[in-house]
Amino acid sequence: MKIFLDSANVTEVKEAASWGILSGVTTNPTLAAKEGRDFKTNIKDISALVDGPVSAEVIATARDEMVSEAHELVRISDNVVIKIPVCLEGLAATKTLKEEGIHVNMTLVFSVNQAILAARAGAAFVSPFLGRLDDIGTDGLERLSEMVETFRNYDFSTEIIAASIRSPEHVVQAAQIGANIATVPFKVIEQMVKHPLTDLGMERFLADWAALQAQLVADGVNDMETAPKA
Ligand code: E4P
Repeated sequence: MKIFLDSANVTEVKEAASWGILSGVTTNPTLAAKEGRDFKTNIKDISALVDGPVSAEVIATARDEMVSEAHELVRISDNVVIKIPVCLEGLAATKTLKEEGIHVNMTLVFSVNQAILAARAGAAFVSPFLGRLDDIGTDGLERLSEMVETFRNYDFSTEIIAASIRSPEHVVQAAQIGANIATVPFKVIEQMVKHPLTDLGMERFLADWAALQAQLVADGVNDMETAPKA
């Protein structure tokens, strides 16, 4: 499963890209608003840091305006993907953009039916929102599982992005279900790498190594004899 970063923050994107785990970035108007910067400048900066798709969402609600906005956004960088909410106007805009060779990520997907329609309209990605489904007492992972199973029955090239991820466990479950991608907030990626036994193990290794050095000094052994080769 590929990992995208769900963030519009340049510092977070730069840091996550340095870890070598990043295959793309997703933004949305709420994340963009948090940055308080010009949206297009922000997307340009993010796109330069990532070797993979960067989703930028349209604000328009009518098909023609969605398409015009998409045309402006794709001019920012070759790796910009257009995020469009799943609705009838959004499907029509996706069809047009697909015909023009522009990749669309259909967002705010909460049902299998929405995912099927997005795929049929030609979306390159669909983004089911796990956390927001959980928030209303529905099982987001169950919906994701149904979507993955449904897509497997056909030759849909549309990739499923598990979105609205709230915890490392969401990521594990999305991977086991078979989502193509998980778009994960920075904080959750940091949590994914953590394990108390890793921290304890590192502490012990360092303490044992320090004890050895102290012992060697006490024994008068030249530490060049034992130092690891560079
Ligand atoms: C995905 O593309 C969305 O930007 C994001 O995952 C939404 O997450 P939220 O429900 O935590 O706002």
